[in-house]
Amino acid sequence: MPLTPSRSDLSVLFITSEVHPLNKTGGLGDVSAALPAALRQLGVDVRLLIPGYPQVLAGLKYKRKVTELAGLSQFPPAALLSAKLPVSASVDVPVFIIDCPGLYRREGGPYMDVAGRDWPDNALRFGLLAKIGAILACDASPLAWRPQVVHCNDWQSGLTPAYLHFYRGIKAASLMAIHNLAFQGIFPPGTITQLGLPISSFDINGVEYHGRMSFLKAGLYYADHIVSVSPTYAREIQTAPLGFGFQGLLAGRRKHLNGIINGIDAVEWDPATDPCLVRNYTANKLAAKTANKRALQQALGLTVDPDILFFGAVGRFTQQKGYDLLLQVAPQLTKIPAQLVVLGSGEAALQQQMTMLAKTYPGKIAVRIGFDETLSHLIEAGADSFLMPSRFEPCGLNQMYSQRYGTPPLVHATGGLLDTVVDCTPATLADGSASGFLFHTMTPGHFLAAIRRVAIIYHDKPTWRRLQKNGMAKDFSWHPSAAAYREIYLALLSRLSK
Ligand code: ADP
Ligand code: GLC
Repeated sequence: MPLTPSRSDLSVLFITSEVHPLNKTGGLGDVSAALPAALRQLGVDVRLLIPGYPQVLAGLKYKRKVTELAGLSQFPPAALLSAKLPVSASVDVPVFIIDCPGLYRREGGPYMDVAGRDWPDNALRFGLLAKIGAILACDASPLAWRPQVVHCNDWQSGLTPAYLHFYRGIKAASLMAIHNLAFQGIFPPGTITQLGLPISSFDINGVEYHGRMSFLKAGLYYADHIVSVSPTYAREIQTAPLGFGFQGLLAGRRKHLNGIINGIDAVEWDPATDPCLVRNYTANKLAAKTANKRALQQALGLTVDPDILFFGAVGRFTQQKGYDLLLQVAPQLTKIPAQLVVLGSGEAALQQQMTMLAKTYPGKIAVRIGFDETLSHLIEAGADSFLMPSRFEPCGLNQMYSQRYGTPPLVHATGGLLDTVVDCTPATLADGSASGFLFHTMTPGHFLAAIRRVAIIYHDKPTWRRLQKNGMAKDFSWHPSAAAYREIYLALLSRLSK
């Protein structure tokens, strides 16, 4: 039985494993900062719950201990701290931090060590995150503040709906947000007892997934509602191959599954004020964008040339992002002629191949391995066009950033990319909606053909300007999507209270 719904005092616990600017590895970090801030602007009392990694403890000032949580099952005891996350849209978001030094205070990333190996105790680390999320969301909570809804994100908080399902008292409704089905949180079956879940949950109608347990499956199965981060992805995951084995479960739950497109932090990603740029610009002062192109070419050791078409790409080096295709077309791309910069990190083989590529084409292709927030902003501003040949893309944020920066993206027609980029055709140019380029078939040939299409339009300056201005005029702010989440929270509470 959930707590009573009310539009005026709606309270939400947003459980996440990463948040910008404290510890971001990808889009979830951006969303975990910007969506709660937008919800607070709509009057929703949303608070974050996040593990106390060193970066989180160091980045948040004025922390106060609110309670101690005794060890349950095989979880060590932990302290719960509270602080405020300063988000750029001038809203402070309250944050609860789980301080459990044995699980979270270590050098490395949130999911992996410095060598790129998953932490061996990830089940315990994120089991504890989910467990404390569930405790705070029920009438056994030691806190006076109680959420009506828990908003879980990806596998790391996937067990919260399972814990809540098996709790018999008054509890919050649960929403499971899917940012990426490729990460499933799979562990040996024995993990269930270690984490204090009943053995009965190890079932096809439960957390069992091909003989092992999956944190993500737990969330998808037990959550009261599921949201994926774009309408197209919500459809794609109900069929193979993008359902990653969950398509049957998701299709069966389609009445309780929505797609809500992510927004962007329009203050943090604004070419008119962005402090990472060499020169700020607007749609009416696009000439100033070229200063960023020059600075970027210089900084990367590329030939400084204001007229050459310059492509940028930023992202995680994984199978998902399709950089293998980019590697295949890069030699022809240079002959167009065009330049390319790639910023990213991830799979060792891709890092090596990218590094080799840059060595083979000095002055034409630059590659930077690592995570560099400032450089990513400068690439959005200094490149002419942004490449995202993703095999699948639940939402994607860079294609929205690049439209806002007057850097029309070229993207594979999938997931949120399809929902946010309008292909440049005579018809869409005529009606003013064209904002980038799409290619529909995931082959080097189709990708290269689309790259050539970009080059033709790029050299047709009046048309290129229109394309840039169309993209810059689009509203990618969080407001409408945050309002859609609020409506879902309310509908969910109303449904469960009947
Ligand atoms: P995903 O979450 O799948 O990685 P998104 O497009 O949703 O993809 O978000 C990725 C976010 O992470 C963007 O803000 C992007 O700029 C940022 N990012 C990814 N890789 C890097 C990197 N190497 N350096 C800086 N920022 C990066
Ligand atoms: C994931 C997806 C990406 C999405 C992001 C934020 O990591 O890969 O497409 O934009 O989450 O929702």
